[in-house]
Amino acid sequence: MRTSGLVAGRHLGAGHRHDRHITAYYAVAPSVFQGIIVRWRRCRPLAPIDAYTFVDLGAGMGRAMLLACAYPFGAVVGVELHPTLTRIARKNLALWRAAGHAHSPMRIHCRDAAEFPLPPGPCVAFLFNPFGAPVLRRTLRAWSRSLVQRAGQLDILYVNNEQESVLEREPGFERLFRGQIRRSRADTVADRAILKRQPNAEYAATSWEGCSIYRWAGTDRK
Ligand SMILES: C[S@@+](CC[C@H](N)C(=O)[O-])C[C@H]1O[C@@H](n2cnc3c(N)ncnc32)[C@H](O)[C@@H]1O
Repeated sequence: MRTSGLVAGRHLGAGHRHDRHITAYYAVAPSVFQGIIVRWRRCRPLAPIDAYTFVDLGAGMGRAMLLACAYPFGAVVGVELHPTLTRIARKNLALWRAAGHAHSPMRIHCRDAAEFPLPPGPCVAFLFNPFGAPVLRRTLRAWSRSLVQRAGQLDILYVNNEQESVLEREPGFERLFRGQIRRSRADTVADRAILKRQPNAEYAATSWEGCSIYRWAGTDRK
């Protein structure tokens, strides 16, 4: 099963108008994923975890979806713009299921995150810095429109929160956490090995990720 590697955004064009906002393909470090789930659970989710659908926006080869299977989410959903990455993720999900690691239904959709309607019921949206500000803004606005009657039903876990200012400026999203989450030593070693192979040292290695957690508190707009 393959989920690691680095593909710069400029090599991920799939003919979509949002291609130019793709950051890169890079899989989340398991220790950082586990760290943000711990922080989220400390933020007192408003429903039991098995009532939540975990939605990875920019799912890549499916690493975060596979990691989410270790928790009792009601369902695990991925959304990925690039068809080849989606195909690899689908294979990975099938292998995970066959190995008995998938305890909740999992599915991945090949489409633009900004046009993906959130499933009904409480959702946890996971973003590992998938796209730039214009796509994040469109995504948040689409959610605000569809969640008018659903205050508290969306929590956002944002890892490598480069575009956090977009979230800060959107009405209705309340910040519950902001801070650094450390990579384990093993993940730092793996990370350095991948980044060492870059031809032009575009992406820097760090031993932590800037992360934030937001909750949709709603606006009074009708
Ligand atoms: C940094 S990778 C994260 C992969 C995965 N979430 C993980 O944590 O292992 C970001 C992914 O977002 C995808 N992406 C970028 N823009 C997108 C969009 N508008 N809609 C859906 N996926 C997008 C990229 O193709 C890339 O695979």
